[in-house]
Amino acid sequence: MIMRFFAIAAALLLCAPATAQEAIDQNTLAPSKDPTRTANGLAQTPPMGWNSWNKFNCKIDEKTVRAVADGMVSTGMKDAGYTYVVVDDCWHGQRDKDGFIGADPARFPSGMKALADYVHSRGLKFGIYSDAGRKTCGGRPGSQGHEYQDAITYARWGVDYLKYDWCNTGTRNAEEAYALIADALRATGRDVVLSICEWGNNRPWDWGKKIGNLWRTTGDITDKWVGKYNYSWGVMSIADMNEPLWPHAGPGHWNDPDMLEVGNGGLTDTEYRTHFSLWAMMAAPLIAGNDIAAMDDATRAILLNHDVIAIDQDRLGVQGRRVWKDGDREIWVKPLAGGARAVLLLNRGEAPATITTTWDQLGLPDRLGASVRDLWAHRDLGRKRGSAVATVAPHGVAMFRIQP
Ligand code: GLA
Repeated sequence: MIMRFFAIAAALLLCAPATAQEAIDQNTLAPSKDPTRTANGLAQTPPMGWNSWNKFNCKIDEKTVRAVADGMVSTGMKDAGYTYVVVDDCWHGQRDKDGFIGADPARFPSGMKALADYVHSRGLKFGIYSDAGRKTCGGRPGSQGHEYQDAITYARWGVDYLKYDWCNTGTRNAEEAYALIADALRATGRDVVLSICEWGNNRPWDWGKKIGNLWRTTGDITDKWVGKYNYSWGVMSIADMNEPLWPHAGPGHWNDPDMLEVGNGGLTDTEYRTHFSLWAMMAAPLIAGNDIAAMDDATRAILLNHDVIAIDQDRLGVQGRRVWKDGDREIWVKPLAGGARAVLLLNRGEAPATITTTWDQLGLPDRLGASVRDLWAHRDLGRKRGSAVATVAPHGVAMFRIQP
Protein backbone atom coordinates (compact mmCIF):
# COMPACT_ATOMS: atom_id res chain seq x y z
CA MET A 1 0.00 0.00 0.00
CA ILE A 2 2.75 2.39 1.09
CA MET A 3 4.86 1.34 -1.86
CA ARG A 4 1.88 1.87 -4.15
CA PHE A 5 1.47 5.44 -2.87
CA PHE A 6 5.09 6.24 -3.53
CA ALA A 7 5.04 4.46 -6.87
CA ILE A 8 2.11 6.64 -7.91
CA ALA A 9 3.60 9.77 -6.29
CA ALA A 10 6.90 9.04 -8.04
CA ALA A 11 5.08 8.50 -11.32
CA LEU A 12 3.30 11.83 -10.78
CA LEU A 13 6.64 13.46 -10.10
CA LEU A 14 8.26 11.76 -13.08
CA CYS A 15 5.62 12.86 -15.53
CA ALA A 16 5.07 16.08 -13.57
CA PRO A 17 8.38 17.81 -14.36
CA ALA A 18 7.10 18.73 -17.79
CA THR A 19 3.59 19.62 -16.64
CA ALA A 20 4.37 21.17 -13.22
CA GLN A 21 7.41 23.02 -14.50
CA GLU A 22 5.52 24.20 -17.53
CA ALA A 23 2.62 25.45 -15.40
CA ILE A 24 4.99 27.26 -13.05
CA ASP A 25 6.99 28.87 -15.86
CA GLN A 26 3.79 29.94 -17.49
CA ASN A 27 2.50 31.45 -14.29
CA THR A 28 5.56 33.60 -13.81
CA LEU A 29 4.94 34.99 -17.27
CA ALA A 30 1.15 35.10 -17.28
CA PRO A 31 -1.54 33.05 -15.55
CA SER A 32 -2.41 29.96 -17.57
CA LYS A 33 -5.87 30.26 -19.08
CA ASP A 34 -5.66 27.01 -20.99
CA PRO A 35 -9.08 25.40 -20.33
CA THR A 36 -7.82 21.99 -21.40
CA ARG A 37 -5.39 21.95 -18.48
CA THR A 38 -7.96 22.86 -15.82
CA ALA A 39 -11.24 24.74 -15.74
CA ASN A 40 -9.97 28.30 -15.87
CA GLY A 41 -6.32 28.47 -14.82
CA LEU A 42 -7.26 29.85 -11.37
CA ALA A 43 -6.47 28.44 -7.91
CA GLN A 44 -3.08 26.97 -8.79
CA THR A 45 -2.70 26.51 -5.02
CA PRO A 46 -5.69 25.73 -2.76
CA PRO A 47 -7.93 28.82 -2.35
CA MET A 48 -7.65 30.63 0.99
CA GLY A 49 -10.17 32.98 2.53
CA TRP A 50 -13.17 33.26 4.82
CA ASN A 51 -16.82 32.20 4.49
CA SER A 52 -19.77 33.33 6.59
CA TRP A 53 -21.64 30.03 6.99
CA ASN A 54 -19.94 28.10 9.80
CA LYS A 55 -20.19 30.99 12.28
CA PHE A 56 -23.13 33.11 11.10
CA ASN A 57 -25.38 30.76 9.09
CA CYS A 58 -28.30 32.81 7.73
CA LYS A 59 -27.70 35.63 10.24
CA ILE A 60 -25.32 37.48 7.95
CA ASP A 61 -25.35 41.18 7.01
CA GLU A 62 -23.12 43.75 5.35
CA LYS A 63 -21.90 45.21 8.64
CA THR A 64 -20.54 41.81 9.70
CA VAL A 65 -18.89 41.20 6.33
CA ARG A 66 -17.20 44.62 6.42
CA ALA A 67 -15.94 43.95 9.95
CA VAL A 68 -14.55 40.60 8.79
CA ALA A 69 -12.82 42.26 5.81
CA ASP A 70 -11.26 44.81 8.19
CA GLY A 71 -10.25 41.98 10.51
CA MET A 72 -8.64 40.05 7.66
CA VAL A 73 -6.28 43.00 7.18
CA SER A 74 -5.65 44.01 10.82
CA THR A 75 -5.01 40.47 12.09
CA GLY A 76 -2.55 39.59 9.33
CA MET A 77 -4.87 37.03 7.70
CA LYS A 78 -4.64 38.82 4.37
CA ASP A 79 -0.84 38.94 4.50
CA ALA A 80 -0.81 35.22 5.36
CA GLY A 81 -2.62 34.49 2.09
CA TYR A 82 -6.32 34.49 3.04
CA THR A 83 -7.77 36.30 0.04
CA TYR A 84 -11.44 35.52 -0.61
CA VAL A 85 -14.24 36.93 1.57
CA VAL A 86 -17.25 34.80 0.70
CA VAL A 87 -20.84 35.55 1.71
CA ASP A 88 -22.64 32.20 1.91
CA ASP A 89 -26.41 31.55 1.83
CA CYS A 90 -29.11 34.12 2.72
CA TRP A 91 -27.73 37.33 1.22
CA HIS A 92 -30.48 37.24 -1.41
CA GLY A 93 -33.56 39.37 -1.81
CA GLN A 94 -36.10 38.71 -4.55
CA ARG A 95 -35.69 38.76 -8.32
CA ASP A 96 -36.99 41.93 -10.00
CA LYS A 97 -39.61 41.90 -12.79
CA ASP A 98 -36.88 41.12 -15.36
CA GLY A 99 -35.50 38.29 -13.29
CA PHE A 100 -32.39 40.01 -11.95
CA ILE A 101 -31.37 39.01 -8.43
CA GLY A 102 -30.63 41.61 -5.76
CA ALA A 103 -29.52 41.57 -2.14
CA ASP A 104 -31.83 41.38 0.88
CA PRO A 105 -32.54 45.10 1.43
CA ALA A 106 -32.78 44.76 5.20
CA ARG A 107 -29.47 42.96 5.71
CA PHE A 108 -27.52 44.41 2.78
CA PRO A 109 -29.01 47.92 2.34
CA SER A 110 -25.97 49.19 0.39
CA GLY A 111 -26.20 46.30 -2.09
CA MET A 112 -23.67 43.73 -3.22
CA LYS A 113 -21.73 45.99 -5.58
CA ALA A 114 -20.93 48.36 -2.70
CA LEU A 115 -19.92 45.42 -0.52
CA ALA A 116 -17.69 43.98 -3.24
CA ASP A 117 -16.11 47.42 -3.70
CA TYR A 118 -15.44 47.60 0.03
CA VAL A 119 -13.84 44.15 0.13
CA HIS A 120 -11.72 45.03 -2.92
CA SER A 121 -10.66 48.31 -1.32
CA ARG A 122 -9.14 46.24 1.51
CA GLY A 123 -7.03 44.35 -1.03
CA LEU A 124 -9.20 41.22 -0.80
CA LYS A 125 -11.41 39.33 -3.25
CA PHE A 126 -15.17 38.93 -3.02
CA GLY A 127 -17.23 35.76 -3.22
CA ILE A 128 -20.88 34.83 -3.01
CA TYR A 129 -23.11 31.78 -2.97
CA SER A 130 -25.86 30.42 -5.16
CA ASP A 131 -27.49 27.10 -5.91
CA ALA A 132 -28.19 24.98 -8.97
CA GLY A 133 -31.82 24.53 -7.93
CA ARG A 134 -34.76 26.96 -7.97
CA LYS A 135 -34.09 27.66 -4.29
CA THR A 136 -30.95 27.63 -2.16
CA CYS A 137 -30.64 25.39 0.90
CA GLY A 138 -31.80 28.39 2.97
CA GLY A 139 -34.88 28.87 0.74
CA ARG A 140 -33.59 31.95 -1.14
CA PRO A 141 -33.83 32.22 -4.96
CA GLY A 142 -31.48 29.75 -6.70
CA SER A 143 -29.92 30.15 -10.14
CA GLN A 144 -31.77 27.43 -12.07
CA GLY A 145 -33.10 28.99 -15.27
CA HIS A 146 -31.17 32.23 -14.57
CA GLU A 147 -27.58 31.00 -14.97
CA TYR A 148 -26.39 33.48 -17.61
CA GLN A 149 -28.35 36.34 -16.08
CA ASP A 150 -26.87 35.69 -12.63
CA ALA A 151 -23.33 35.34 -14.01
CA ILE A 152 -23.71 38.77 -15.65
CA THR A 153 -25.03 40.25 -12.39
CA TYR A 154 -22.11 38.77 -10.42
CA ALA A 155 -19.61 40.13 -12.95
CA ARG A 156 -21.20 43.60 -12.68
CA TRP A 157 -20.85 43.44 -8.91
CA GLY A 158 -17.21 42.32 -9.13
CA VAL A 159 -17.60 38.77 -7.80
CA ASP A 160 -14.36 36.74 -7.83
CA TYR A 161 -15.55 33.43 -6.33
CA LEU A 162 -18.83 31.52 -6.56
CA LYS A 163 -19.84 28.70 -4.25
CA TYR A 164 -22.61 26.83 -6.06
CA ASP A 165 -24.77 24.54 -3.94
CA TRP A 166 -26.98 21.58 -4.76
CA CYS A 167 -30.26 21.89 -2.78
CA ASN A 168 -33.63 21.59 -4.56
CA THR A 169 -32.12 20.26 -7.78
CA GLY A 170 -34.53 17.33 -8.23
CA THR A 171 -33.37 15.12 -11.08
CA ARG A 172 -30.85 17.59 -12.55
CA ASN A 173 -27.61 16.10 -13.79
CA ALA A 174 -24.83 17.51 -11.62
CA GLU A 175 -22.06 17.58 -14.22
CA GLU A 176 -24.34 19.40 -16.69
CA ALA A 177 -25.63 21.86 -14.10
CA TYR A 178 -22.11 22.80 -12.99
CA ALA A 179 -20.84 22.96 -16.58
CA LEU A 180 -23.69 25.36 -17.39
CA ILE A 181 -22.83 27.84 -14.63
CA ALA A 182 -19.12 27.48 -15.47
CA ASP A 183 -19.88 28.39 -19.10
CA ALA A 184 -21.99 31.34 -17.96
CA LEU A 185 -19.20 32.62 -15.71
CA ARG A 186 -16.61 32.15 -18.45
CA ALA A 187 -18.80 34.05 -20.94
CA THR A 188 -18.60 37.17 -18.75
CA GLY A 189 -14.82 37.23 -19.24
CA ARG A 190 -14.27 37.68 -15.49
CA ASP A 191 -11.95 35.41 -13.48
CA VAL A 192 -14.23 33.58 -11.04
CA VAL A 193 -13.13 30.66 -8.88
CA LEU A 194 -15.92 28.06 -9.00
CA SER A 195 -16.58 26.05 -5.83
CA ILE A 196 -18.65 22.95 -6.60
CA CYS A 197 -20.77 22.05 -3.57
CA GLU A 198 -22.79 18.88 -4.18
CA TRP A 199 -21.32 17.12 -1.14
CA GLY A 200 -19.58 14.36 -3.10
CA ASN A 201 -22.92 12.82 -4.12
CA ASN A 202 -22.10 12.52 -7.84
CA ARG A 203 -18.36 11.76 -7.66
CA PRO A 204 -17.32 15.33 -8.62
CA TRP A 205 -13.66 14.26 -8.44
CA ASP A 206 -14.31 12.36 -11.72
CA TRP A 207 -15.56 15.41 -13.68
CA GLY A 208 -14.98 18.55 -11.60
CA LYS A 209 -11.47 19.27 -12.81
CA LYS A 210 -12.55 20.62 -16.19
CA ILE A 211 -15.48 22.59 -14.71
CA GLY A 212 -14.52 24.08 -11.35
CA ASN A 213 -11.60 24.70 -9.01
CA LEU A 214 -12.70 22.80 -5.90
CA TRP A 215 -15.42 20.33 -5.07
CA ARG A 216 -16.88 19.37 -1.73
CA THR A 217 -16.22 15.70 -1.04
CA THR A 218 -18.59 15.28 1.92
CA GLY A 219 -21.67 16.53 3.72
CA ASP A 220 -21.33 19.60 5.94
CA ILE A 221 -18.67 19.89 8.60
CA THR A 222 -19.74 20.56 12.17
CA ASP A 223 -17.71 21.84 15.12
CA LYS A 224 -17.25 18.38 16.68
CA TRP A 225 -14.30 15.98 16.88
CA VAL A 226 -15.80 12.90 15.19
CA GLY A 227 -19.10 11.28 14.19
CA LYS A 228 -22.25 12.00 12.23
CA TYR A 229 -24.87 14.55 13.32
CA ASN A 230 -27.93 14.57 10.99
CA TYR A 231 -26.42 15.85 7.71
CA SER A 232 -23.11 16.95 9.26
CA TRP A 233 -19.88 15.32 10.29
CA GLY A 234 -17.14 15.93 12.85
CA VAL A 235 -13.70 16.96 11.58
CA MET A 236 -12.03 13.54 11.92
CA SER A 237 -14.87 11.82 10.05
CA ILE A 238 -14.58 14.39 7.25
CA ALA A 239 -10.80 13.88 7.08
CA ASP A 240 -11.29 10.10 6.77
CA MET A 241 -13.74 10.52 3.87
CA ASN A 242 -11.54 13.06 2.05
CA GLU A 243 -8.23 11.22 2.47
CA PRO A 244 -8.67 8.40 -0.11
CA LEU A 245 -9.47 10.97 -2.81
CA TRP A 246 -5.86 12.24 -2.84
CA PRO A 247 -5.07 11.17 -6.45
CA HIS A 248 -7.74 13.58 -7.80
CA ALA A 249 -6.30 16.81 -6.39
CA GLY A 250 -3.81 19.06 -8.16
CA PRO A 251 -3.10 22.65 -9.19
CA GLY A 252 -6.37 24.31 -10.19
CA HIS A 253 -8.63 21.51 -8.91
CA TRP A 254 -8.85 20.52 -5.26
CA ASN A 255 -10.77 18.17 -3.02
CA ASP A 256 -12.73 20.32 -0.56
CA PRO A 257 -13.39 18.73 2.86
CA ASP A 258 -15.40 21.86 3.77
CA MET A 259 -14.59 25.06 5.58
CA LEU A 260 -12.61 25.37 8.78
CA GLU A 261 -14.24 25.33 12.21
CA VAL A 262 -11.07 26.63 13.93
CA GLY A 263 -12.07 29.21 16.56
CA ASN A 264 -15.78 28.36 16.71
CA GLY A 265 -15.55 26.94 20.23
CA GLY A 266 -16.61 23.29 19.87
CA LEU A 267 -13.12 21.75 20.04
CA THR A 268 -10.03 22.27 22.19
CA ASP A 269 -7.10 24.27 20.81
CA THR A 270 -5.17 20.99 20.47
CA GLU A 271 -8.01 19.55 18.37
CA TYR A 272 -8.18 22.69 16.25
CA ARG A 273 -4.42 22.37 15.60
CA THR A 274 -5.09 18.80 14.43
CA HIS A 275 -7.98 19.97 12.21
CA PHE A 276 -5.85 22.72 10.63
CA SER A 277 -2.84 20.41 10.16
CA LEU A 278 -4.93 17.72 8.47
CA TRP A 279 -6.46 20.27 6.09
CA ALA A 280 -2.96 21.53 5.19
CA MET A 281 -1.69 17.96 4.68
CA MET A 282 -4.64 17.30 2.34
CA ALA A 283 -3.97 20.48 0.31
CA ALA A 284 -7.49 21.53 1.23
CA PRO A 285 -8.88 25.00 0.58
CA LEU A 286 -8.22 26.98 3.79
CA ILE A 287 -11.47 28.87 4.21
CA ALA A 288 -11.74 30.18 7.76
CA GLY A 289 -15.23 29.93 9.24
CA ASN A 290 -14.91 31.88 12.48
CA ASP A 291 -15.54 35.50 13.51
CA ILE A 292 -12.28 37.06 12.31
CA ALA A 293 -13.15 40.38 13.95
CA ALA A 294 -13.18 38.72 17.40
CA MET A 295 -10.51 35.98 17.37
CA ASP A 296 -8.64 34.99 20.50
CA ASP A 297 -4.84 34.55 20.51
CA ALA A 298 -4.93 30.75 20.29
CA THR A 299 -7.17 30.85 17.19
CA ARG A 300 -4.97 33.48 15.61
CA ALA A 301 -1.83 31.40 16.25
CA ILE A 302 -3.44 28.43 14.48
CA LEU A 303 -4.88 30.22 11.44
CA LEU A 304 -1.70 32.27 11.05
CA ASN A 305 0.79 29.43 11.36
CA HIS A 306 2.89 30.31 8.32
CA ASP A 307 4.84 27.05 8.45
CA VAL A 308 1.65 24.98 8.20
CA ILE A 309 0.07 27.28 5.60
CA ALA A 310 3.20 26.80 3.45
CA ILE A 311 2.58 23.03 3.45
CA ASP A 312 -0.99 23.54 2.23
CA GLN A 313 0.13 26.03 -0.40
CA ASP A 314 3.16 24.08 -1.64
CA ARG A 315 3.40 24.62 -5.39
CA LEU A 316 3.76 20.91 -6.22
CA GLY A 317 0.08 20.62 -5.30
CA VAL A 318 0.06 16.96 -4.26
CA GLN A 319 -2.52 16.00 -1.63
CA GLY A 320 -0.94 14.18 1.30
CA ARG A 321 -2.28 10.91 2.67
CA ARG A 322 -2.08 8.37 5.46
CA VAL A 323 0.83 5.95 5.02
CA TRP A 324 0.72 4.15 8.36
CA LYS A 325 -1.81 3.36 11.08
CA ASP A 326 -1.61 1.39 14.30
CA GLY A 327 -4.73 1.77 16.44
CA ASP A 328 -5.00 5.47 17.33
CA ARG A 329 -1.56 6.34 15.97
CA GLU A 330 -1.20 7.48 12.36
CA ILE A 331 1.43 8.90 10.01
CA TRP A 332 0.44 11.13 7.09
CA VAL A 333 2.87 12.28 4.38
CA LYS A 334 2.69 15.03 1.75
CA PRO A 335 5.40 15.31 -0.94
CA LEU A 336 6.58 18.89 -1.44
CA ALA A 337 8.31 20.76 -4.25
CA GLY A 338 12.06 20.23 -4.29
CA GLY A 339 11.97 16.74 -2.74
CA ALA A 340 10.99 17.70 0.81
CA ARG A 341 8.18 15.98 2.73
CA ALA A 342 5.63 17.19 5.25
CA VAL A 343 4.88 14.54 7.83
CA LEU A 344 2.08 14.48 10.37
CA LEU A 345 2.18 12.26 13.45
CA LEU A 346 -1.42 11.99 14.62
CA ASN A 347 -2.71 10.64 17.93
CA ARG A 348 -6.49 10.02 17.89
CA GLY A 349 -6.37 8.41 21.33
CA GLU A 350 -7.10 9.64 24.85
CA ALA A 351 -3.54 9.20 26.22
CA PRO A 352 -0.20 10.65 25.06
CA ALA A 353 1.48 8.44 22.43
CA THR A 354 4.99 8.10 21.06
CA ILE A 355 5.08 7.95 17.27
CA THR A 356 8.18 7.33 15.15
CA THR A 357 8.33 7.93 11.42
CA THR A 358 11.01 6.26 9.36
CA TRP A 359 12.55 7.68 6.21
CA ASP A 360 11.30 4.53 4.48
CA GLN A 361 7.70 5.65 5.19
CA LEU A 362 8.55 8.97 3.58
CA GLY A 363 10.02 7.30 0.49
CA LEU A 364 13.53 8.47 1.41
CA PRO A 365 16.72 6.36 1.64
CA ASP A 366 17.40 5.28 5.22
CA ARG A 367 20.94 6.70 5.36
CA LEU A 368 19.99 10.07 3.94
CA GLY A 369 20.56 13.06 6.21
CA ALA A 370 17.63 15.48 6.29
CA SER A 371 16.91 18.64 8.22
CA VAL A 372 13.80 18.49 10.34
CA ARG A 373 11.65 21.47 11.29
CA ASP A 374 8.86 21.28 13.88
CA LEU A 375 6.03 23.28 12.30
CA TRP A 376 4.05 23.92 15.50
CA ALA A 377 7.04 24.69 17.76
CA HIS A 378 8.54 26.73 14.87
CA ARG A 379 11.91 25.15 15.69
CA ASP A 380 14.63 23.59 13.56
CA LEU A 381 15.55 20.26 15.13
CA GLY A 382 18.76 19.81 13.13
CA ARG A 383 19.78 17.07 10.72
CA LYS A 384 18.53 13.55 11.30
CA ARG A 385 19.11 10.20 9.64
CA GLY A 386 16.59 7.37 9.29
CA SER A 387 13.77 8.47 11.58
CA ALA A 388 12.11 11.18 13.64
CA VAL A 389 10.07 10.70 16.79
CA ALA A 390 7.63 12.70 18.91
CA THR A 391 5.40 12.25 21.91
CA VAL A 392 2.00 13.42 20.77
CA ALA A 393 -0.77 14.76 23.03
CA PRO A 394 -4.24 13.10 23.02
CA HIS A 395 -6.18 14.25 19.91
CA GLY A 396 -2.99 16.09 18.91
CA VAL A 397 -0.37 16.13 16.21
CA ALA A 398 3.31 16.73 15.64
CA MET A 399 4.06 18.14 12.23
CA PHE A 400 7.46 18.24 10.58
CA ARG A 401 8.97 19.47 7.37
CA ILE A 402 11.72 17.07 6.32
CA GLN A 403 14.20 18.45 3.82
CA PRO A 404 16.74 15.95 2.43
C1 GLA B 1 -25.32 23.52 2.31
C2 GLA B 1 -23.80 23.67 2.15
C3 GLA B 1 -23.26 24.51 3.28
C4 GLA B 1 -23.93 25.87 3.29
C5 GLA B 1 -25.43 25.70 3.39
C6 GLA B 1 -26.14 27.02 3.20
O1 GLA B 1 -25.62 22.79 3.45
O2 GLA B 1 -23.20 22.42 2.10
O3 GLA B 1 -21.85 24.64 3.17
O4 GLA B 1 -23.58 26.58 2.12
O5 GLA B 1 -25.93 24.81 2.41
O6 GLA B 1 -27.54 26.87 3.29
